[in-house]
Amino acid sequence: DSARVISSMLDIVMIRTFGHDIVERFASYSTVPVINALTDDHHPCQLLADMQTFTEHRGSIQGKTVAWIGDGNNMCNSYIEAAHMWGFKLKIATPKGYEPQQKFLTEFAHCAELVGSAEDAAVNADLIVTDVWASMGQEEEQKIREKAFADYQVNERLMDLAHPDCLFMHCLPAHRGEEISENMLDHKNAVVWDEAENRLHAQKALVEFLINENLKKD
Ligand code: NVA
Repeated sequence: DSARVISSMLDIVMIRTFGHDIVERFASYSTVPVINALTDDHHPCQLLADMQTFTEHRGSIQGKTVAWIGDGNNMCNSYIEAAHMWGFKLKIATPKGYEPQQKFLTEFAHCAELVGSAEDAAVNADLIVTDVWASMGQEEEQKIREKAFADYQVNERLMDLAHPDCLFMHCLPAHRGEEISENMLDHKNAVVWDEAENRLHAQKALVEFLINENLKKD
């Protein structure tokens, strides 16, 4: 009911929530485009900004190697889908029990693989990415996760294993001293501030694209 009424009043809707099914269900009743601003399963808008940022700094990401180090969460799932869409190879290092959903690993086995350690993922990477250890809604798991993820911190030592030009990204907010070392955001190859700014530019482009596409339907 909300989707029907809200979409009769607006040109576009953007929803950040927990269950992915909530966005899917809203979209199926909406007459205007619905953007996923983050669910438990996916965070596609962040990927638009990340891909824009990589391209600005290093050119095409096609054929490059990207290391996802940390939780097999919404960001990780969106990186798996991005690996398929943009044509890069994704190496995923997560602690046991925190892997991305098997259905994604199976569907995207041609471009994404689990590796045994953070070091294995980092070697020769062109981009290293991580995210908080406890996502929104998992705050009560913080202490357990700090133990589980202790070997998965992105730090200067890990960056030294990567390609010399390897970029570092983080969708923010970051927890210095947890998933990243204290100074990681100031690393010479960290591009997190451009990445954060590009959320604005990438999403403006997305809104323009979707509104124009929707107008074509009328
Ligand atoms: N995985 C994080 C991303 C925050 C932008 C979360 O869902 O909280």
